[in-house]
Amino acid sequence: MEIILSGIRPTGNLHLGNYFGALKNFVKLQHENKCFFFIADYHSLTTHPTPADLQGNVKNVLVEYIAAGLDPEVATLYIQSDVKEVCELYLLLNMNAYVGELQRVASFKEKIRSQPDNVNAGLLTYPTLMAADILMHRAAKVPVGKDQEQHLEMSRNFANRFNNLYKVDLFPIPIAYNFGNDLVKVPGLDGSTKMSKSNSEASVIYLCDSPEDIRKKVMRAVSDSGPTIPNQEKPQAISNLFDLMKTLSSQDAFDYFNEQYDKCTIRYGDMKKQITEDAIKFTAPFREKILELSSNNEYLHKVATMGAEKARESASKTLSQVREIIGIKSI
Ligand code: ADP
Ligand code: TRP
Repeated sequence: MEIILSGIRPTGNLHLGNYFGALKNFVKLQHENKCFFFIADYHSLTTHPTPADLQGNVKNVLVEYIAAGLDPEVATLYIQSDVKEVCELYLLLNMNAYVGELQRVASFKEKIRSQPDNVNAGLLTYPTLMAADILMHRAAKVPVGKDQEQHLEMSRNFANRFNNLYKVDLFPIPIAYNFGNDLVKVPGLDGSTKMSKSNSEASVIYLCDSPEDIRKKVMRAVSDSGPTIPNQEKPQAISNLFDLMKTLSSQDAFDYFNEQYDKCTIRYGDMKKQITEDAIKFTAPFREKILELSSNNEYLHKVATMGAEKARESASKTLSQVREIIGIKSI
């Protein structure tokens, strides 16, 4: 049984990209592996969210993870800040992390450019905190997108460095897990290749969106005036709509509109109506569950407490070994 760990920063609601690109696979993985899924609230503090936003977003992700099928009885589902062990491991790993290498991380360099007024030490040591998340559970596989690969590489460096420095074999070297054939990229409604809330709110379909929200967003999705030459290649925005159909609609519906496209008789309005209908049908059960869970604070508290206990048990085992290896012992 492999140890798989995934973290997500609480920055809002989960959308179809999050679901098809990650969550759907997590739901499957949780039964075949020892899985840790956590909400990286410490990490999100680098951008100074308001307390209300932070709290609301942590709750959203917890609710939506459960609504999407993560089972708190099967996997370990927890909030990063509930597991204080991560702070100590972060501190200890920082003794072994060099400022030069942290400064060379692409995401850090990008932050220097994009937010020169807030280049805080949390940003610089972001990869060390991420390494602590991973190494404290001795995770072997970490599902990450392209943007996180360099951070994961840093985790490998820190793990190797610790093992070599103290001549131990404590930390397994974590590798990226990409879902093989199950890897799906969901396109945005704004013509971009990836559905992402950092593009624009209007380009994503959230699991909690109302039918009216979905209708508005899909009907406004980018298209064009239509093909003029039979079988012509599809421009990006149009192939996005077809990709969305592939994930949400029946094969028959996809084939029908594809044929219409090839014959230059396609009506994008009809195609969007079909996508709207299928997206509403798909998200309805999630939305229902989300609404139900959101009002059940007692249950959510129980889930978070149970997750924290399981995560702390795993983390404290590693941490006591780390302390011992380093030479921190009670006198
Ligand atoms: P966003 O880009 O909207 O901020 P996140 O970066 O929070 O989304 O996404 C968290 C995870 O969800 C990613 O690491 C990736 O696995 C998955 N994911 C997000 N958007 C997509 C997408 N459009 N297609 C496939 N997977 C996605
Ligand atoms: N940095 C990740 C992101 O922004 C979130 C994260 C924090 C994470 N700790 C992690 C992901 C550990 C995987 C493993 O998406």
